[in-house]
Amino acid sequence: MSLTAPPRPAHPALSPAAESVVRATAGVVAEHSEQISARFYESMLGERPELWRLFNRANQETGEQSRALAASVVAYAVQLIDPDAPSFDPVLRRIAGKHITLGITPEQYTLVGRHLLGAVADILGAATTPAIAAAWDEVYWLFATQLIATEARLYAAAGIDPHNPLRPYRVVRRTQESPGTVSLVLEPADGAPLPAPAAGQYVTVFVDLADGTRQPRQYSVSSLASDTRLQITVAQVRNGPPGQVSTHLQDSVAVGDILEVSGPAGDFGVPAGVGPLLIATAGAGITTVLPLVEHLARTQPDRPLTLAHADRSRSDHALRGEIATTAKALDDVVSHSWYEILDADDPTSNVGLMDLELIDFTADTHVLSCGPLPFLRAVRLAALGRGVPPERISYEVFGPDLWSPATVTA
Ligand SMILES: Cc1cc2nc3c(=O)[nH]c(=O)nc-3n(C[C@H](O)[C@H](O)[C@H](O)COP(=O)(O)OP(=O)(O)OC[C@H]3O[C@@H](n4cnc5c(N)ncnc54)[C@H](O)[C@@H]3O)c2cc1C
Ligand code: HEM
Repeated sequence: MSLTAPPRPAHPALSPAAESVVRATAGVVAEHSEQISARFYESMLGERPELWRLFNRANQETGEQSRALAASVVAYAVQLIDPDAPSFDPVLRRIAGKHITLGITPEQYTLVGRHLLGAVADILGAATTPAIAAAWDEVYWLFATQLIATEARLYAAAGIDPHNPLRPYRVVRRTQESPGTVSLVLEPADGAPLPAPAAGQYVTVFVDLADGTRQPRQYSVSSLASDTRLQITVAQVRNGPPGQVSTHLQDSVAVGDILEVSGPAGDFGVPAGVGPLLIATAGAGITTVLPLVEHLARTQPDRPLTLAHADRSRSDHALRGEIATTAKALDDVVSHSWYEILDADDPTSNVGLMDLELIDFTADTHVLSCGPLPFLRAVRLAALGRGVPPERISYEVFGPDLWSPATVTA
């Protein structure tokens, strides 16, 4: 027996037969992917309505989750057949992170696979030959296996039982940060120690709404100042019908109440290295900034930092005071703000939308951004325009990620 293990393939691979079928049908599946994914949710949630407690109802209503699932499966298939496709790892880690905050288990992949592959057959109809069905079954199970393995590692590292992923937390303080934004300070109510979130990570909070439904939402950990308490900061959604969970947390959750909260997850955070950082945020995206600044103050107070934030007005700019106070511990920090409505007595802020042309930053800067998708696009374009390479631009999306370079070509 040889002592040298055979080299492992860098990526899981399709069988040759499946590969040629996937090459021939990727286009038609991509074209119908949103219909397939919409049919999938209809059929799975129809058969198993109890799963609604895991799915964000607004993301179902708007179709965003359906589009995210469709885009991820198509992108996964493309990178199996195209060695030049962008790395899929960030997408895989993003999905696995979200899954582990929801307690997704390996057994559920069988159910999802049955409904997803059933939806492919339904939508493609008679065109779904046995060879096509078998090839896409292979794609699904390669993807599922990678997710299950990544999730198993994340659950094990965090000591989380996937069948019991939530812990009770008591609300011990509420701070109204701005008219529509409240911070909730949470303390574990089960006596166990607080997990240690990394700066930039989020948790999933489950709430029981007045209409009897249970709903999960993700909230960034908005301060790491305490190692016994967790803080989240919730901005009430203003565009369209009032947001269900943000309104509930704003109006109906009081000090003393218990919330069920997952462990922390997510890859957004301070990149390794010593190069300068630009953190560009808009609106609710501000919730990611304080822990990043706290982290830098503790670990790299000499790392150059530029903060840029855009909001409706100075009074809407949540956590402004805490961020400014914490940033005083940094040696080299500048802050810029843009407000749609500028106070007459505010000589330092800019009026209107963020314009990064007004800011000094060099091509060796790592740009982190958080805010609505059009804002993230504008920041990315501005950074690329200044010579920052794509691998030094990172972002957090406060919804299903419909924008990863690995899943979006335009
Ligand atoms: C990783 C991550 C981190 C996050 N961090 C934070 C954070 O730190 N702070 C924060 O405030 N938020 C954060 N979010 C966003 C948060 O999870 C919620 O999405 C947000 O609070 C809105 O939830 P909601 O229940 O109030 O609104 P929802 O009820 O989910 O509504 C969301 C939007 O969908 C619209 N909508 C709902 N139904 C329909 C329909 N039928 N047709 C058209 N539009 C519809 C609503 O009007 C609203 O604009 C984060 C999200 C992610 C993924
Ligand atoms: C190969 C199989 C799977 C794929 C490709 C997949 C893909 C995705 C994607 C792309 C997202 C959005 C991630 C983001 O926020 O950016 C997501 C979220 C989610 N997934 Fe999966 N998933 C799979 C399996 C499962 C399984 C087995 C379950 C269990 C029921 C599940 C339940 C969920 C839930 C509840 C969410 C959050 C939805 C929301 O907040 O709207 N997924 N998944």
